[in-house]
Amino acid sequence: MRTRCYKNMVFYQIWPRSFKDGNNDGIGDLYGVLEKLDYIKSLNVDGIWFSPLYPSPNVDFGYDVSNYCDIDPAYGDLDTFKEVLSKCHSLGLKVIMDLVINHTSIEHEWFQKSRKKIQPYTDYYIWRPPVINKKGEKKAPNNWDSNFSGKAWEYDEVRQEYYLHLFTKEQPDLNMDNPVVRIEVKKIMKFWLDLGVDGFREDVITFISKNPKLPNDYLFPMSKGFRFYNNGPKLKDYLSEFYADVLSQYDPVIIAEAPLLSPRKALKYIKETDDNPLDMVINMDYMEADCIISDLLPTRFHLGKLKRAFTRWQNGVNKKGWNLLYLENHDHPRSINRYADPFYHNQSAKMLVCSYIFQMGTPFIYMGQEIGMTNFKANSIDDFVDCKTLNSKKNKSLKKRLKYYEKTSRDQARTPMQWDRSDNAGFSSTTPWFHINSNYKEINVENQERNDGSVLNFYRKAIKLRKELPVVLNGKYKEIKKFSPRIYAYTRNDGEHKLLVICSFSKYKTKFKSIKGYNLNQGKLILANYSINETFKNSFIARPYELRVYLF
Ligand code: GLC
Repeated sequence: MRTRCYKNMVFYQIWPRSFKDGNNDGIGDLYGVLEKLDYIKSLNVDGIWFSPLYPSPNVDFGYDVSNYCDIDPAYGDLDTFKEVLSKCHSLGLKVIMDLVINHTSIEHEWFQKSRKKIQPYTDYYIWRPPVINKKGEKKAPNNWDSNFSGKAWEYDEVRQEYYLHLFTKEQPDLNMDNPVVRIEVKKIMKFWLDLGVDGFREDVITFISKNPKLPNDYLFPMSKGFRFYNNGPKLKDYLSEFYADVLSQYDPVIIAEAPLLSPRKALKYIKETDDNPLDMVINMDYMEADCIISDLLPTRFHLGKLKRAFTRWQNGVNKKGWNLLYLENHDHPRSINRYADPFYHNQSAKMLVCSYIFQMGTPFIYMGQEIGMTNFKANSIDDFVDCKTLNSKKNKSLKKRLKYYEKTSRDQARTPMQWDRSDNAGFSSTTPWFHINSNYKEINVENQERNDGSVLNFYRKAIKLRKELPVVLNGKYKEIKKFSPRIYAYTRNDGEHKLLVICSFSKYKTKFKSIKGYNLNQGKLILANYSINETFKNSFIARPYELRVYLF
């Protein structure tokens, strides 16, 4: 029987390399995490999602795994991890591991053996002989694109065949149609669950079942092949197999990263039945209000798109399954820069978090978001290190690339955590592996601890409130003022209590007039990001990035 404990929880995501360096080598690690567990607990969150901690050559910073059942020496070892886990549990924090099983690192022993056709590894990956064209040249088996620019096939001189890689060429895709590979996956799951972890965030899991014919894709000008591997033919079977054979024996939290999956399709996996193979999906719609499908195609921020995404998932999933709510993670620039305005830093940060944490679902907060960390200003493209970033726009001028990378790069979310105003922002006592954002003397944990009105203390309060109010857990969601280009507002109603959340996404003053049943003068203002909050005849003029939460 599933307990579905995640419903009343809030999670905190750690991207380990940039969280806290505990052994002073410039790289964040588990020793640093140990030092900061009390801090994490003080945020009132209930669990941690660790981005990959496994040994990795770090082409994609951990998302290229070379050994699934160990900890990267840069972060500690299995004993350090066990210590973190046990301290988390004693503090009442659950621990969720990233599980990257669509692909491995090229340095994984499986790949090294597979390219030499050593059994049983020969068919662990998706190998195909070259297609020979009319000119006698060797060509890739189909025209699919990699998600990180360029093509999705690489010719391997050792095996003299092509292998599929939907990400970098150092991340070969596993052949999940091979039952032995699925047995390996189950062993990995079992290994971590037996150690005591509380669940998984399954990386691009909707890509694991490819159309076996690997057909050419003539429909799309970009992301060719996507429709042939996302939400593929055997996905449900494989997820159900993982669930039946392993996961069902542990009651873990199972989260799937699910690009371009509609709520209706997601329900195929997350609908609350006794054997649903997933609990929640990380949909990408929330990340598309300032781009077209992917960060790589940026546009201006469009509040209408964000509102539609929020409401589409609330209406599509609530009461049948459960939503995962977020506005930041390690794959996207900081939300204040994308969806609000760093000039109104304090207001923006507070408003943004309330735009989603009072919705129905389980909220996630990405490290640094709780102090309103922002994008950094780069001097040249050499300031960027992320593979996805550096693979993009390769043929453009340096100036254009710099501007583009500043807006779109995942590196923007990966600058070290700003703990205090000391050198290296208190992240490390030696030169950190990556730049510290130059605003660390103003925006840091220590400053905000001391200030009642800080973003940090607001997060604590908002998370606590969320957990104290039953209406947030179960109340019906309704978006109001749908057509306002500046305000996103929603209500929650459980029959006993009602909540009204009003978020201005604009620097311009905008009138908000409340609706029937939500008389502002009768409600109790439980959260706000300005200190004086007047109302006139059931309305008020919202100031830049103003937020108000009323309880009725
Ligand atoms: C997911 C991860 C991202 C990684 C990619 C390939 O999207 O969140 O960081 O680069 O998968 O593993």
